[in-house]
Amino acid sequence: MILLSEHQPKDVVWQHGSVDREDRAGRLGHRGATLWFTGLSGSGKSTVAVALESTLHALGHHAYRLDGDNLRYGLNADLGFSQEDRAENVRRVGEVSALFADSGLLVLSSFISPERVDRERVRNLHLKSGVPFFEIHIDVPLEVAESRDPKGLYAKARAGEIPEFTGVHQPYEAPVSPELRLPTSELSIERCVDRVLQMLREQSVLPASGMG
Ligand code: ADX
Repeated sequence: MILLSEHQPKDVVWQHGSVDREDRAGRLGHRGATLWFTGLSGSGKSTVAVALESTLHALGHHAYRLDGDNLRYGLNADLGFSQEDRAENVRRVGEVSALFADSGLLVLSSFISPERVDRERVRNLHLKSGVPFFEIHIDVPLEVAESRDPKGLYAKARAGEIPEFTGVHQPYEAPVSPELRLPTSELSIERCVDRVLQMLREQSVLPASGMG
């Protein structure tokens, strides 16, 4: 299996292994996939991902979260919030997500990822490589996210203490046709988790209900 990024290196040849995605899925009891949570800061991306990871783990599935805040401690520590840096942030985590999903993991990637074009690039990488990809829009109005302000960042942004804040100084481009839309101001976290599980079962990523 080749992960088909846009970048085609010169004089570099892909090294194939002898264990493939189906072999790994057979061992793990579910297929690998990337669940890409996108939405405003404070929309509930991480909250849904944490609850989903916990439920998947309890069901015996192998899931792992990649969180925008957390990855900026390490892999993306050199990146800020300019348009270019966000594009690079999303590109890198898109590549990591595809690799992890190819390894058989259910990858829960939570990134604001405000630009459609960046998210489309991640989607295309997965689709061209045959790795299941689900864009999940954690959809709340800016007023709701701002009123929650769990980290106090909107207040700081309004006070001029944080530049380039999404929703305040920079736009958020909502997905046009995401695989799933979760309005966390209308649905409980449990309902959100149930909807994701239902989608994964319908798409044969997880075995049908009753089998875990
Ligand atoms: S992304 O736009 O590049 O996808 P990412 O999801 O990695 O963003 O990081 C967003 C997190 O960084 C937010 O949850 C918030 O805690 C923090 N943050 C700090 N500065 C900003 C900013 N200017 N805009 C948005 N989020 C910010």
